[in-house]
Formats: sequence, structure tokens, C-alpha cells
Amino acid sequence: MDATARPEVVALRSSKIREVANAGFGREGVLPFWFGESDQPTPAFIRDAAAKALGEGRTYYTHNLGTAELRGALADYLQDLHARPFGTERIAVTSSGVSAIMLAAQLVVSPGDRVVVVGPVWPNVPEIPRILSGHVEIVPLEAAQGRWRLDLDRLMEALTPDTRALILNSPNNPTGWTLAAEDRAAILERCRRLGIWLICDDVYERLSFGGGRSAPSFLPLAEPEDRLIGVNSFSKAWRMTGWRLGWMVVPPTLTDRLGVLLEYNTSCAPDFLQTAAATALREGEAHVEALRAELLAARDQVLGGLRALPGIEAPEPDGGMYAFFRLAGCTDSVALAKDMIEKVGLGLAPGAAFGAEGEGWLRWCFAAAPEKNAAGLERLARYLAR
Ligand SMILES: Cc1ncc(COP(=O)(O)O)c(C=O)c1O
Repeated sequence: MDATARPEVVALRSSKIREVANAGFGREGVLPFWFGESDQPTPAFIRDAAAKALGEGRTYYTHNLGTAELRGALADYLQDLHARPFGTERIAVTSSGVSAIMLAAQLVVSPGDRVVVVGPVWPNVPEIPRILSGHVEIVPLEAAQGRWRLDLDRLMEALTPDTRALILNSPNNPTGWTLAAEDRAAILERCRRLGIWLICDDVYERLSFGGGRSAPSFLPLAEPEDRLIGVNSFSKAWRMTGWRLGWMVVPPTLTDRLGVLLEYNTSCAPDFLQTAAATALREGEAHVEALRAELLAARDQVLGGLRALPGIEAPEPDGGMYAFFRLAGCTDSVALAKDMIEKVGLGLAPGAAFGAEGEGWLRWCFAAAPEKNAAGLERLARYLAR
């Protein structure tokens, strides 16, 4: 008997970010910018709320879809952010953003289904439908005149009548590309006309540099009964990566089925964490605004530093926490990232981790103190001067 996993699982690529990070772990003095998280812990008011709930013994299972308290807090938060009501019957709490993407795919993707994804993109986004035996087609973003852009015509052509779902991550990890507000209506309209599910990965929506509290979102445009699934997370905007908490917004017709699926995935998110997440939503606006201002300053610092170096192309990210840039002549980003660790102790993520479209590029997570970003830029300059 052949004791191996399903072919789809055997075919999964292992993370090239991990491959590079593993090469750097244990090395003296490496400055890591490879993972997508802040170098600061979760704000104390959120940690205190979790500790209090834990102290009160909130250690039991909850409703599959989440506690009434957190779903209510999410409904209030979303209404405030998007100036439109979202009934709690459309909202589910998940154990992370990545789990929300998996649940969304489990809800709508069957074996053989065609799924369109805009990339380069965080590898989990295309790999999840592939695990479910979907066929993924990538529509590439393009870098031109110092910005990332989506060729809308190309996306429209890719949205064929036999397409089951479009997964759109905006602001995008790794490029920071953000969907233009005026492009939303055409995409929504085409998805409506062809019955395509639109899965919006909005985990960076609050980390948007275009003005306003959120990047352009489909949520305020869509009707509750549209084939739209919003996927979101507490990880980035509230600095809660290690908590593994996210949420989904679905059409009301899907909620019951989502509850059943949640039962068979995680059953529910931890009760004491859900309590603290409600606190994060209710009391966290000042924190989110401050984080966005910090990230904007960090973006300008790192982008300015990169653009001052010879042979570097660094398009401007409109949101998120990453600079995605390339060195002239680089064709093997994994080898380059490993060499930078070895020669100058600079830890970046290789662009190839984000699909073939990302090869030749490097990702820098700038959610770090200004001194740390400055030290990284200095190391990069030293690497280029060798
Ligand atoms: C594009 C994108 N979507 C979803 C997530 C999921 O975040 P989490 O699973 O930490 O909630 C991430 C995390 O890096 C991401 O970059």
C-alpha cells in the first residue's frame, strides 16, 4: 500500500518564505523582515480583556458562528465602517483569516471548478482552492510608472461563464496594490451576470494609504443576496496575529451551511478570545488609526530608502505593510534572499513565494520600528555596494 496523501496535498508547494527564514533562524544578528506581522505585541487593552475573560472561566465551546456579543460587535463595526447595515445573521467568527478563506472555498468550490485569483498573492490564497481540487488561474498585476495596476480588461476576460469564483485580495499582499473604487462596479456586475462567487480577502482594508478609514470595499456596494463572501481578520489591524481570529460576511442563505462547516473545521473560536476581540472592535479605533499612521511613515521611509539605491525598482504600495521591489537582473529570489542573509544579515521574503508572477522580486515587511527599517536599508546598501 502506498502511504501517501491525496495528490493535491502532495503537490502543495512548501512555503518559500519559510525556506528562507529557516536558513536565517539561529544566525547571529539577522534583521528579519520576512513575516507579515508587526514587531509589536497586541495592545495591552486587548490582552487585558482576554486575561480577564480567561480569569472568569470563559473556557467553554461557543455557538459555531461565534458569540452573540462578538457577532453584534462586528455588525456595529461594519455598519460604522461601511455606512450600511450588516445583520448579525450574515456574520460568522472564524479561527483566523486563513481559516475564513478555507471555509469560503469549502462553501463554493467543487473539484474541477475554475477559480480566478489576482496575483502575485499570499500563497495560501491560490493553494486553498487547489487543495479542494479547484483549477486556479492567476491574473497578473503589472508594475508600471512606479505603481501596481490591474488590467481590468484582462480580469474581465478571465471571468468566463465557467468560472466559479474570483478571489480578490485588496490591499494585496505582497504588492500593496489596492483595487480602485471605480473598478468595483464592473467586477461586481460581471460576477453577478455570470453567477461567479466573489471572495474578498479584506484583511488589510484598514491599512490603506489612500485616505479614508478603509480601502475600497465591495461590502457597501453588494446586496445581501449577492454571491459575495467577505473574509477578514483581527491579525493585522489590531496586531493579533498569534490569536488566530477572523470573520466572514456571507449572504444570509449561506449562514446555516457555514455554521455546519464551522462545526467540522474548528467548531468555534475560543470564548475568551472572542470577548477580547469584541473589546478590540469597540475600543480599538484609536489604535487602528495610529497603526495606519505608523505604517504610512514606515512605507515612506522604506520606499524612499529603496528608491535611493542603485538598480532597484520599488513601486509604491497603496496599502498593507509591505514593500515589494526588485533588483535589476534578479531571476532567483530565493537564492538572492538567502545570500542577503549570509552576506549582510538582512532577512527578506523571496518574491517567488507569491507565485511565478513574483519571481525576481523581494518583499519587505515594514511594520517595524524606524531604527530597524533604517538598519535594514543600511544593510541593503552595503549588500549592493559589495
Ligand atoms: C492576504 C492575506 N489574507 C489572509 C491572511 C490571513 O491572516 P490570518 O490567518 O493571520 O488571520 C493573510 C496573512 O498574512 C494575508 O496576507
